[in-house]
Amino acid sequence: MTKKLYIKTYGCQMNVYDSNKMLDLLRVFGYAQTDNIQEANLVIINTCHIREKAAERVYSELGKLKELKDKRKALGLQMLIVLAGCVSQAEGDEVFVRAPYVDVVVGPQTYHNLPELITKVSRENNIALDLDFPVISKFDSLPEVSSPQGYSAFLTIQEGCDKFCKFCCVPYTRGAEYSRGLSEIYREALGLVTQGAMEITLLGQNVSAYHGLDDNKKEINIADLIRHLAKIPKLHRIRYTTSHPNDMFDDLIELHKHEPKLMPCLHLPVQSGSDKILKNMNRQHTAKQYLEIIEKYRAASPDILFSSDFIVGYPGESDQDFEDTMELVRKVKFSLAYSFKYSMRPGTPAAAFEDQIPEEVKVERLARLQALLFEQQTQINQQAIGRTCLVMFEKTGKYLGQILGKNEYGQVVCALGSLDNIGKILPVKVHKISGTTLVGDLM
Ligand code: 5AD
Ligand code: SF4
Repeated sequence: MTKKLYIKTYGCQMNVYDSNKMLDLLRVFGYAQTDNIQEANLVIINTCHIREKAAERVYSELGKLKELKDKRKALGLQMLIVLAGCVSQAEGDEVFVRAPYVDVVVGPQTYHNLPELITKVSRENNIALDLDFPVISKFDSLPEVSSPQGYSAFLTIQEGCDKFCKFCCVPYTRGAEYSRGLSEIYREALGLVTQGAMEITLLGQNVSAYHGLDDNKKEINIADLIRHLAKIPKLHRIRYTTSHPNDMFDDLIELHKHEPKLMPCLHLPVQSGSDKILKNMNRQHTAKQYLEIIEKYRAASPDILFSSDFIVGYPGESDQDFEDTMELVRKVKFSLAYSFKYSMRPGTPAAAFEDQIPEEVKVERLARLQALLFEQQTQINQQAIGRTCLVMFEKTGKYLGQILGKNEYGQVVCALGSLDNIGKILPVKVHKISGTTLVGDLM
């Protein structure tokens, strides 16, 4: 009899990728995915630790799961609870103290051991914890063939980070930088394309620092990797995220000029426009250097769109520092951005700084920054009106008869059209914007 698996994913695209991998892996061990948590034999919560109070939210969610678990137990049914992801890595065995009904705690680098851990807890009626950073990559133990991910798929090529920005928990939760080998990535890409993917987004915490080995054990960079992947005939679009400004190099930037499959958009977090704050964050670049990279990209790909991440209210951020951030935003003009109030992550250096910024100042700065970013996003979207873009249609839209997809720049576009157009890349002339969506007509 197949067992039912319910999986809930928080956080970044890499967590989405990891959840898909856990599903692929457990399918082999007789589990089928369900959307109905009530009937689940196994529940996995794949967590994110980047936001404030992440752990508290997880414990509150686990509390609700306990009620469901007890209900199933009263009916003589099992519900194993697995806590996965970055909160697991950060909390460790504290999870079993605060939520003793959790059965397995597994980190981002060890979820390939899930079948063994689950068997162990079922057989021994015990708990299991696996938070190692193993020498042998988890990718060696995961099923090579992924289940269909749709027209747009994620593929992790690099994981972990050695940058140690002082606000960030990633180097502690995801571990040291690790790059997968070319042939492994190529085979996974081929598999995804065979299953229908037309676009692949290459994922990594610091993706442009990718330095995997080719078949001759020669180190290659992300530009080399993209050149290889671009040879897959039915792969039409390639994107990569997230990059660090210090790892952007000319070969990659120039590739935007020569490789039509490489889409004209770049997510390049800057966090702050103040050199003092950038230094205190240990970002190891200045605002000017960031702007120089943006200019280089614009020279290689004149219509490229940029997105970024920002933190306001980092310890010691003065009014002038914040104005420097606003100034940088005005100079670049971002099509999309994620902006956050600084939040203390336990164990990171910035959490111990004394010059923390009062909450009301953070709130006010965030509102001003977000207003400016929204204004820019709207302006950039409006510039698309009257222009024709190429949309890869992925699904039906909100209203009857509408189909929805993304254009080259990553903007969401909808148009009236038949369902036959889903899974095709078609020209669309934009005639208006609705919220953050471009609305157009098929040509
Ligand atoms: N506080 C606020 N934002 C943070 N980020 C990472 N750590 C923190 C923190 N402690 C943001 C950064 C990063 C994005 C993924 O999350 O902007 O680029
Ligand atoms: Fe975190 Fe990104 Fe800095 Fe790495 S480069 S420490 S993932 S913010």
